[in-house]
Amino acid sequence: MTVYLNGQFMPIEAAKIPVMDRGFIFGDGVYEVIPVYSRHAFRLAEHLHRLQHSLNGIKLHNPHSDAEWTALITQLIVRNDTEDQYLYLHITRGVAKRDHAFPNPPVQPTIFMMSNPLLPPSATLLSKGVGAVSAEDNRWLRCDIKAIALLPNVLLRQMAIDAGCVETILFRDNKFMTEGAASNIFVVKNGVLLAPPKNNLMLPGITYDVILEIAASHTIPHEIRKIAKAEVFSADELLMTSSTKEVIAITTLNGKPVGTGKPGKMFSQLHQHYQTFKQNVMRKK
Ligand code: PDD
Repeated sequence: MTVYLNGQFMPIEAAKIPVMDRGFIFGDGVYEVIPVYSRHAFRLAEHLHRLQHSLNGIKLHNPHSDAEWTALITQLIVRNDTEDQYLYLHITRGVAKRDHAFPNPPVQPTIFMMSNPLLPPSATLLSKGVGAVSAEDNRWLRCDIKAIALLPNVLLRQMAIDAGCVETILFRDNKFMTEGAASNIFVVKNGVLLAPPKNNLMLPGITYDVILEIAASHTIPHEIRKIAKAEVFSADELLMTSSTKEVIAITTLNGKPVGTGKPGKMFSQLHQHYQTFKQNVMRKK
């Protein structure tokens, strides 16, 4: 695997960073995950826009213009083997003496990128769906920043794994749904697709946008509004989305079936449209 670190492409084994990197010491950095289909980075402009939003959120200067990022990303894609990849892009505030305050004057940020093969969800995952558990969203109030400091997400996601499930659905103040520990969540009730509004309490998912665009273009009834906890527990269907998982049905919640306990009609429709979109749009420039 060829990775990129601070201006150079190299085998992953050669990529080393100093222990005083603020990413290592403080989790002081941001990241992006970008899917690549047939060697085309999907929605690169949107991912770079979200990266800029994250960098603004942590007051870190963007080390590259969009044109420079595009050139680097293009090279990374070429240097790796598979047609479909997911790119991981990571920027930290750099290497400095340990002090919570920003290094003054600023130091060079650490820039790391890697690529991994992107595999679609398995047939079993698609036909059976996955289990989820629920938990209070105990993260900070800037979940719109794609921060590398993911300890709360790590602990919340592990709750699902420990329960033999795949995702943890999060609720603020025990009242309304925000998202999953590593995905966005949609609720289906009476044929209507419900999505929580983008705000500081959730990551503005690129796949979330795609799903809503698909709903709009296929006249699938949908609403963007706050979703109460009770609505999640009485949903006909629950769906999770992310760049690496596309769209997957959640068929159990806290051990109880969601709706019929099988992937529903809305899931089938959206999944089908997503595959067509992938084939016709994502795989082309
Ligand atoms: N995570 N919400 C959270 C907390 C996430 O971590 C992710 C994705 C999403 C979905 O965003 P998108 O559709 O842009 O992938 C929502 C990535 C895949 C990760 O951390 O690996």
